[in-house]
Amino acid sequence: MITGQTRTLVILADPIAHVRTPQVLNPRLEAEGVDAVLVPLEVPPEALEAALRGLAGARNFAGAVITLPHKTAVPALCDALSDRAAAAQSVNVVRRRRDGSLYGDLLDGEGFVRGFEQTGVTLCGKRVFLAGAGGAASAIAFALAGRGVAALTIANRSAAKAGALIARLSARFPDVAFTAAADPAGHDIAINGTSLGLRPGDALPFDPDRLDPGTLVAEVIMQPATTALLRAATARGLTTHPGRHMLEGQLTELLRFLTHEEDEK
Ligand SMILES: NC(=O)c1ccc[n+]([C@@H]2O[C@H](COP(=O)([O-])OP(=O)(O)OC[C@H]3O[C@@H](n4cnc5c(N)ncnc54)[C@H](OP(=O)(O)O)[C@@H]3O)[C@@H](O)[C@H]2O)c1
Repeated sequence: MITGQTRTLVILADPIAHVRTPQVLNPRLEAEGVDAVLVPLEVPPEALEAALRGLAGARNFAGAVITLPHKTAVPALCDALSDRAAAAQSVNVVRRRRDGSLYGDLLDGEGFVRGFEQTGVTLCGKRVFLAGAGGAASAIAFALAGRGVAALTIANRSAAKAGALIARLSARFPDVAFTAAADPAGHDIAINGTSLGLRPGDALPFDPDRLDPGTLVAEVIMQPATTALLRAATARGLTTHPGRHMLEGQLTELLRFLTHEEDEK
């Protein structure tokens, strides 16, 4: 039951209707006896700063999950960032500290690779193709490199963003072969890290006909559960890995981050 003592968490997105975090996280909060509730807030980009600063003024505001399109705007609104959030310049979770300041972290990448690991996929030594260079894709790229993939090819509509991401990755992971290219051929794993697939009629993020036999095709999109890309991959006889694994892979860490004061790194 929501009482005067319940702490409030929010998820900030625009649009909001497709998010699945409230229905996944609220039962976990209840099961673990945490007196907090996560509510959806549809906040357009022009209202983001005012919304976040206003929330931070409320003492029982515990934190926020950040998603499309706000992840790359939130770092500038935080008072402190984890190393991985600072490196990727992207935040998907914000905690209100006792003094009202905001601490941002980025759990998406860790969630994504844990989602692979929970389904038995090994990443070390693999050749990976990643479409996207936004908040989610940047986080995934850093986490993949941290797991020791052999090669990572990045394709993005805005080529300059892919180039900048590769420059940041190369500085941190000199042993990984990073390339900017649009062709997904020749990879063990191909990932859609863009928002393409959310809306009916979206273009495919890459050409599934170019994939090698045996390539694992993975999604960040959770809604719809089976995107056009996953359907095309299945039609070609390829194994698929839907977007829900990324959220499931980060739930435990998300819950701990939002409801406990942790050592910040
Ligand atoms: N499963 C999960 O747990 C989970 C977690 C986080 C995010 N997600 C999903 O990940 C997706 C991306 O989120 P984000 O935070 O990374 O968003 P973002 O920072 O806004 O980045 C969006 C990415 O999609 C690309 N893109 C968008 N529209 C495009 C188009 N018409 N053609 C080609 N490329 C296009 C962008 O390319 P440009 O750089 O050229 O604009 C960019 O690479 C969202 O759909 C979100 O729901 C899922």
